[in-house]
Amino acid sequence: MPQSRTLLLLAGDGIGPEVTRQVRRVVDWMNRARGAGFDVVEELVGGAAIDRHGVPLTDETMAIAHQVDAVLLGAVGGPRWDDIEFARRPEAGLLRLRKELGLFANLRPAKVFSPLIDTSPLKPDVVEGLDLLIVRELTGGVYFGEPRGITELPDGGRRGVNTQVYTSHEIRRVAETAFDIARRRGRRVCSVEKANVMESGRLWREEVTALAAESHTDIELSHMYADNCAMQLVRNPRQFDVILTDNLFGDLLSDEASMLTGSLGMLPSASLGPADPATGRRPAMYEPVHGSAPDIAGRDMANPIATLLSFAMMLRFSFDLGAEADMIEAAVEKVLSGGIRTQDIMTDGMARVSTSVMGDSILRALERMPG
Ligand code: IPM
Ligand code: MG
Repeated sequence: MPQSRTLLLLAGDGIGPEVTRQVRRVVDWMNRARGAGFDVVEELVGGAAIDRHGVPLTDETMAIAHQVDAVLLGAVGGPRWDDIEFARRPEAGLLRLRKELGLFANLRPAKVFSPLIDTSPLKPDVVEGLDLLIVRELTGGVYFGEPRGITELPDGGRRGVNTQVYTSHEIRRVAETAFDIARRRGRRVCSVEKANVMESGRLWREEVTALAAESHTDIELSHMYADNCAMQLVRNPRQFDVILTDNLFGDLLSDEASMLTGSLGMLPSASLGPADPATGRRPAMYEPVHGSAPDIAGRDMANPIATLLSFAMMLRFSFDLGAEADMIEAAVEKVLSGGIRTQDIMTDGMARVSTSVMGDSILRALERMPG
């Protein structure tokens, strides 16, 4: 009897539907060829949900997200919804999912595929073999801190406020995740903040240091200011194994790290919540790091690889299907080695293909794979 695995697919806006469609094809193939038993529900999020329901995420969709084993999200947002107030914008749907599912740990691996080494704007000898992981805190900090808002001032001007705030509990639980993951990699964690100017950064450094000393003495812990980290990422990115950082710095540094690998179109992510003490199960959502890319949306040009690699992360973290995850990664590697490229990773002499043809090629590579 194949096991049933439930998956909520939220394609969202812009290129979201195009790239998640390629994952849907891989899911269907896994059900057919490997009896994976995925049960997929598709719903709306972001601008697509605003257009249909007037809100960026309905309560019904939120309830489904709580019930399923994992969520896969494409992208949200676009110029059409830019003038809406924050609480009703497409991004609010994504932030609600992260917050209500309690997805405090966001894992963003930046790995260089060797066939793409020439796509990176950095010199090949700087990025060759690069394999780092950013662990970004995802449910706290300035994204959610109160007070926030824009108010009128008596002088006729206005005042915009956001609050950067972290508690020791929030810092420790994401640091714990970073240490655990580092143990399965290079055992090195670089914790990134601005303890030189921010109290929240100072607390961050103190708590991470204390936690490491209490229960993670096997991990080599270092600290770096966020501005220096931004610079070190282009100067010598291979010095890093795991970078642990807050919500806002993680947002910035992960976009930067993605370019080291050649394209934002290659970078997957996984967001994990707390493990259920009884079952060990963690609420989880998987998304490509790239956004909705409205400039190329609907033109069958986007790179579906970040989303496919996000699905591979799902197979590994949520379903314990490591062999299947390896297959997807190997299929991607094979297609890239064969010179197939979407426009974002195109270089001289390669074959430029559409989103759907990239999907076809990866499916064909999967079908031909032994085992
Ligand atoms: C990301 C995105 C989101 C973020 C936006 C779409 C709200 O940039 O996942 O990195 O800022 O977290
Ligand atoms: Mg971002």
